[in-house]
Amino acid sequence: MKIAVSGKGGVGKTTVAASMVKAFASNNYKVYAIDADPDVSLGLTLGLPIEELKKLKPLIDMKEVIDGKSSGGGLLFDLNPEVEDVIEEYSFKQGQVHFLRMGGIKQGGSACYCKENSFLNAVLNSLLFDQDEVVILDMSAGIEHLTRGTSEGVNLMIIITEPTKVSVQTARVVQQLAQDLGIKNIKILGNKVRHEKEEQFLQSQFSENELMGVIRFDENIWEKAMNTETGVLAEENLLPNMEEVYKSILEEVSK
Ligand SMILES: Nc1ncnc2c1ncn2[C@@H]1O[C@H](COP(=O)(O)OP(=O)(O)OP(=O)(O)O)[C@@H](O)[C@H]1O
Ligand SMILES: [Mg+2]
Repeated sequence: MKIAVSGKGGVGKTTVAASMVKAFASNNYKVYAIDADPDVSLGLTLGLPIEELKKLKPLIDMKEVIDGKSSGGGLLFDLNPEVEDVIEEYSFKQGQVHFLRMGGIKQGGSACYCKENSFLNAVLNSLLFDQDEVVILDMSAGIEHLTRGTSEGVNLMIIITEPTKVSVQTARVVQQLAQDLGIKNIKILGNKVRHEKEEQFLQSQFSENELMGVIRFDENIWEKAMNTETGVLAEENLLPNMEEVYKSILEEVSK
């Protein structure tokens, strides 16, 4: 089960992704939690030990590994068993959760980061195609880690939106990007919904088929975030209606 989470900045991608990781882990799934957003907060939100997170290098920076493994000219797809070793070696494990940092796709100037980027691509490929487990990707709105190739491995793209016009507009842009990449199952999930009126607003913006549900605004989580950067969902502290959302995800993925 491979789930990518995207949406406008600040809508709650990381919090929702972390909550999903918790939901799957507590249902005994082995979960790969992948921080694919350059702003690394998934590990912190999950409440993983900060010292361990600091030690964890983003995959894109693994120069040594990259140089060793892509010497064959970048045909990394043939090297999948080795890529799997890398995934095991460079993830931080806690209980059912395996945490990995992707690091940002490196772009241009005069330098070519082809090796780095194709290594990242191979790792994602291995995660998305070869692993039977649950993979949850916390992405930015740009979804730039996904390519036409890797996106085929994504079973469900969840686009988070707040009940605001700008956030809905971004959701539409992401939806188009995801469609262009060939992702078949793309759903919208409302977040931080406080009132009936806000839920109705989202229902007016998306069809029933597009909108998979809404998550309520949670005062406790909001307050916790005011006082700490870490461990907002450290305990078995799921977002409200996460159980429902979890069930809808299972349904969507099994379709
Ligand atoms: N349902 C909710 N109720 C209350 N607060 C929430 C809810 N969902 C997220 N938040 C809070 O909203 C803020 C932004 O959430 P989060 O960091 O998950 O968003 P993001 O989309 O990952 O942001 P970024 O684009 O910076 O990565 C955080 O303080 C988080 O605790
Ligand atoms: Mg985030």
